[in-house]
Amino acid sequence: MTVRLTLTTLGKMKQDGDKITMLTCYDASFAAVLDGAGVDTLLIGDSLGMVLQGHDSTLPVTLTDVAYHTACVARGAKRAWIIADMPFGSFQLSPGETFRNAVPLLAAGAQMVKLEGGETMVETISFLTSRGIPVCGHLGLTPQSVNMLGGYRIQGKTDETAQRLIAEAKMLEEAGASMLVLELMPSVVAAAVTAALTIPTIGIGAGVDCSGQVLVLHDMLDIYPGKKARFVKNYLAGNGSVKAAVEAYVREVKAKTFPAAEHSY
Ligand code: KIV
Repeated sequence: MTVRLTLTTLGKMKQDGDKITMLTCYDASFAAVLDGAGVDTLLIGDSLGMVLQGHDSTLPVTLTDVAYHTACVARGAKRAWIIADMPFGSFQLSPGETFRNAVPLLAAGAQMVKLEGGETMVETISFLTSRGIPVCGHLGLTPQSVNMLGGYRIQGKTDETAQRLIAEAKMLEEAGASMLVLELMPSVVAAAVTAALTIPTIGIGAGVDCSGQVLVLHDMLDIYPGKKARFVKNYLAGNGSVKAAVEAYVREVKAKTFPAAEHSY
């Protein structure tokens, strides 16, 4: 019988230096392939707005969209820890409303919700986690704030902004977050954040020293027609099948050969 990964196992993987693999996933067939290939965590990201729905940002994604795709993924995966993204507008107003909006995602089969933001999310994370909902934070480039950030830009480049990222990461951990996605920041900053925390960090464009890595599935299979970021590697090239591509990704993350310097900042 396949046993599902737990928060305890994922936390221990960080302590043991065993890299955690994550990919985004949106349906049952891909979930079964990714699960079988040994991907530790599946994220039903609001990136679905771009790679599935064809929008030019994640902002139009709804709670109904994420709940639907979470239910699809949950039916296909037996071992992976399943994380559902809270879409724009579903968690910014109040802790109570966020709890109410997280419920359908857990009912659909997620074990954890992810939400973007730093200090302003402390109260909400504390509210959710003290009521039984595990939370993954998301710092650095937070795509739902693209209009405030002036585009999809690298974050934490100055000493002041890097220190701020480290401070906010500690606040999220203290509030109860048990995982943290770090997106698009210099490798040295992500390494400092990872060293400052007990909980695992999962990097995307954040260098090899995070506790694990995530990529958007459609990017690593090179089937998304949009612009490809420097941190993306095409794993389908040379691997012949989706299964072999995903196995290669898992192998390289575990061996710390992905991301290489050419994928980092
Ligand atoms: O929505 C998403 O796919 C994400 C990842 C980029 C981490 O948040």
